[in-house]
Amino acid sequence: MSKPINILFVSSEVDPFAKTGGLADVSSALPKAIKEQGHEIRIMMPRYRFISERKFKLHDIIRLKDIPVPIGNDTPFGNVKSSFISSLKEKVQVYFLDNEKFYGRDGVYQSPTSKKDYKDNDERFIFFCRGVLETLKRLGWQPDIIHCNDWQTGLIPAYLKTVYQDDPLLRKVKTIFTIHNMAYQGAFPLESFETSNLPKETFRTDGVEAYGKFNFLKAGLIYSDTITTVSEKYSHEICDSDEYGAGLNGVLHTRKKDLRGILNGIDYTIWNPLTDPHIYRKYDIKSIDAKIENKRALVTKFGLEFDETTPVIGAISRLVEQKGFDLVLDSLDELMKQKVQFVLLGSGDPELEKQFDKFQKKFPKQMGIAFGYDEELAHLIEAGSDLFLMPSKYEPCGLNQMYSMRYGTIPVVRATGGLDDTVEDYAGTGKGTGFKFEKFDSKELMKAVLRAIKVFHQPDEWKKLMRNGMLKDFSWEHSASKYISLYKDLLRQ
Ligand code: ADP
Ligand code: GLC
Repeated sequence: MSKPINILFVSSEVDPFAKTGGLADVSSALPKAIKEQGHEIRIMMPRYRFISERKFKLHDIIRLKDIPVPIGNDTPFGNVKSSFISSLKEKVQVYFLDNEKFYGRDGVYQSPTSKKDYKDNDERFIFFCRGVLETLKRLGWQPDIIHCNDWQTGLIPAYLKTVYQDDPLLRKVKTIFTIHNMAYQGAFPLESFETSNLPKETFRTDGVEAYGKFNFLKAGLIYSDTITTVSEKYSHEICDSDEYGAGLNGVLHTRKKDLRGILNGIDYTIWNPLTDPHIYRKYDIKSIDAKIENKRALVTKFGLEFDETTPVIGAISRLVEQKGFDLVLDSLDELMKQKVQFVLLGSGDPELEKQFDKFQKKFPKQMGIAFGYDEELAHLIEAGSDLFLMPSKYEPCGLNQMYSMRYGTIPVVRATGGLDDTVEDYAGTGKGTGFKFEKFDSKELMKAVLRAIKVFHQPDEWKKLMRNGMLKDFSWEHSASKYISLYKDLLRQ
């Protein structure tokens, strides 16, 4: 084997320590898969207060005490703690940058009670980006690659190409920036830029400035050595359209030759119905009939009546505009005329939550709703539902449709981004893995659901679809190899 590559993987959320969405799943599973292929990879994230010191056996690394991190005219200190995540074969070290003022909170990006973003998210992630580099200096560890993810890490490439360009330890480090979502950019006023201590000349249209603001995502796009996003289709969508590119498609165009789509995988040590500790009855393709026991457990949990012949439609989602649940709300009156049950686990926009609550009261025998974040229930919904709904307006990759397929639960999705890349539309005679619709429109969504329900009532045909999905291989191994070959390309440059 060729020489192992040293990689620092940086993310604002990593499962099981902190998770608001799929970024956390990826930030845990991908580094494990890379390590399993023989490379040295470590992770770094902020140490939010809710990450239990006891549960995760966090410990201080003595020589990393009191790291000074310049912010504006101030120099607060960071402290670094450490823990591990494990795959079946390997352990990956995780560093946590700790600072009570910035991360001593109950939420990751926003207060769980007010659901408003923290006002100092600019400073929190300026501190993080610069703190990551200062930590490396203190450690004396020189990674070959720093793999950055989303806007929260976007300033790292910018610092490396400016403030640290002559630093003996860091000047050779290459960066890769992975876009998980173009819609979240970390755009802040000019004053934030001043706090970052980046050189003045970087506040330009070919630098960190976008639409008059200091834009962290743009910093990542401009200054990284290469860019990836989490599906092939999304990589085209964000270059080709204003809407998907969220105003930065022009920038992406200038870097098109450095942009690649690499599909996310799923972590089968966590999402596997044969070993899943959270579900009622374990099963796999050979014992597919046992899945029904999970359906019974699921509907009972929501206080609905169990009937084998009533299809259960499940959904688990952040309730935000991206996910397209306004289409579901527009369709519910129509949908509830069918013999179906619908269970939703979601949290997010209070207005959407209110609307769903209203419908649940209107259709108490057919609808079950749980608001909040519930890992265990998410697994039971995957195992217990017949259909899984993802009507996203846009979807960089999406993980739940892949989890669904592994659990023999048939996805109904809008044909966008990773949803389009991973789901094959039902083509009759046992072909396909799900149901897709193109246009973002509630009537189109309804048509796809009705097509699915029709096939559900043809049990032999339905079972073929279940099997097709369960046999799909979405393991991380394949995608990890693609990242590794990208790292190698970068190191050859
Ligand atoms: P996104 O990152 O845009 O939210 P993904 O499909 O990539 O979408 O990943 C979502 C992840 O978050 C999945 O692991 C899903 O199960 C989980 N998830 C989303 N909402 C909830 C919730 N309310 N409770 C538990 N898990 C959730
Ligand atoms: C983002 C995207 C989602 C993707 C996830 C992990 O949150 O919205 O589509 O699966 O990141 O890459």
